[in-house]
Amino acid sequence: MTISLDQFRTGMQQLAAGVSVITTEHDGDRAGLTATAVCSLSAAPPRLLVSINRAGYTFGLIAASRKICVNILNAEQADLATQFATPAPNGAEDRFAMGEWREEVTGAPVLADAVVSFDCRVAWIVDTGSHGIVIADIVHSASKPELAPLLYARGKFAQLTEFA
Ligand SMILES: Cc1cc2nc3c(=O)[nH]c(=O)nc-3n(C[C@H](O)[C@H](O)[C@H](O)COP(=O)(O)O)c2cc1C
Repeated sequence: MTISLDQFRTGMQQLAAGVSVITTEHDGDRAGLTATAVCSLSAAPPRLLVSINRAGYTFGLIAASRKICVNILNAEQADLATQFATPAPNGAEDRFAMGEWREEVTGAPVLADAVVSFDCRVAWIVDTGSHGIVIADIVHSASKPELAPLLYARGKFAQLTEFA
């Protein structure tokens, strides 16, 4: 017995979440996607996980590069989140036209105005079905705590009124 894809998606949309853009770089090619399936995993060593669709372009590049940057978006970056969730038939490089990008330790693209950026080396990738769990060790971080985080729930971007 199981539930339908629609029931799963509608149910998971009730889980309000922060929004990140997960980036990578391999042999000069950049890719990235919008993700809410990001979770703290271990404090010592500092480690996180991201669940990424194995059928997408970005997953393939992460599997090759073994590096990611988790850029947690600020409340003004809903347009950027939409850009990184839009199909990119000419390759994911087009998505980087928006935003200011730099590199830190691994070479994965770091977003200048993210609330937090975690530059990571991929330790394991666990295949779990349509998505793979990317488990990554954080090697560098940058933060702008004065910025409010972007949220997503019920198909809409939002922000906490406490931070508005
Ligand atoms: C708010 C939001 C959250 C998303 N979260 C995830 C996620 O956690 N994992 C994932 O694989 N895709 C997620 N997506 C979908 C991808 O961003 C989207 O399918 C993207 O175009 C995939 O890019 P790719 O083809 O380069 O892999 C999300 C989309 C949105 C709008």
